[in-house]
Amino acid sequence: MATRLSTPLRHQFYRNAARPSPSFYYMIQHGQQQQQQNRALSTASSLTRPPLGGTTSIITGASRGIGAAIATAFASKGSNCILIGRDQTALNRTLEACNNTSNQSSGDGSSSATSQQRHIVEMGDISSREFWTSLNLKDLISQSSSSTNGETQSGPLILVNSAGVTHSSLLLRTSASQIESVIQTNLMGTLWASQIVGKQMLRFRGNSNSNEAQTQPGAVSTKGVIINVASLLATHGGAGSAAYAASKAGVLGLTRSLAAELGAAGIRVNAVLPGYIESDMTKAMAPKARGEALSRIPAGRFGSVDEIAEAAVFLASNAYANNCVITLDGGLSAV
Ligand SMILES: NC(=O)c1ccc[n+]([C@@H]2O[C@H](COP(=O)([O-])OP(=O)(O)OC[C@H]3O[C@@H](n4cnc5c(N)ncnc54)[C@H](OP(=O)(O)O)[C@@H]3O)[C@@H](O)[C@H]2O)c1
Repeated sequence: MATRLSTPLRHQFYRNAARPSPSFYYMIQHGQQQQQQNRALSTASSLTRPPLGGTTSIITGASRGIGAAIATAFASKGSNCILIGRDQTALNRTLEACNNTSNQSSGDGSSSATSQQRHIVEMGDISSREFWTSLNLKDLISQSSSSTNGETQSGPLILVNSAGVTHSSLLLRTSASQIESVIQTNLMGTLWASQIVGKQMLRFRGNSNSNEAQTQPGAVSTKGVIINVASLLATHGGAGSAAYAASKAGVLGLTRSLAAELGAAGIRVNAVLPGYIESDMTKAMAPKARGEALSRIPAGRFGSVDEIAEAAVFLASNAYANNCVITLDGGLSAV
């Protein structure tokens, strides 16, 4: 609680306080000028550099749906993407989309004209711990690092855990292997990825390119960012999705604990909770279930993968976003 001085004591306090010298006023004015100059410089720099410029993003589930949309959006914002999934042909399609958007953005001046982005594909089953331990992250990062004026630059790492599977059935009728597949992919895959890529993030010491990214308003100002694609079912129940909801509630718990464990070390950990989104996952819904879901969503439609990607860009680039959980469900959680 603040201590209030009585009126006579207050007068005595102000009389006794040392009068600031002229050099004190000079320092204040000079400091303000310096701050204005710094702000002007960083604003000019942020106008010429894309918000994720210099970063490397590892994106699981990048072959399709939400993961593919996030990869393309990150590429358009200057990130070098490492695309992870099990389907080579589908991953190559995302790779092409990332290359196209990078070329376009460097052509229209919204990206650094001298910076060459590199995107690569890595095949694997993210639910297995062996996949993560056998990855040569250092090598992958250097393969996908930007080359600026012929010099390789690698900035902060971003990990997006988007790979996921669902299985709709009542728990009492769900086989052990189906339950295990959902938990291993959605929860354990996210946990292994965070542990192994998180260690790599801690090793990041910065370079001239990334240091610039660290001081820009709106740029990644940390050693790394983890973004988990959870689900509205992490916080809301729903018949037929016990294992899936348990896996996504686990992902949300993991997000919160990691934000506390890693925040002070410069790693931000955030989550998106999508409601119903148009993708292969919801294409598999029975027409009756789809109709019922639509009738409950105030927005009157399913969301698009690009709308989730926009949230991921925000979580990656907003330097104050840590333990930030964005629900994107067209209002479904409100009813
Ligand atoms: N769509 C929705 O309505 C919705 C709502 C809430 C949350 N989500 C979550 O959003 C995330 C993306 O879903 P989506 O809608 O984009 O689904 P999707 O179109 O079915 O895509 C799933 C992605 O996960 C990958 N994947 C699955 N298991 C994998 C494994 N073991 N190893 C590597 N990759 C694996 C798939 O890759 P392959 O090509 O190798 O199969 C694919 O790229 C999931 O975590 C999902 O739970 C989706």
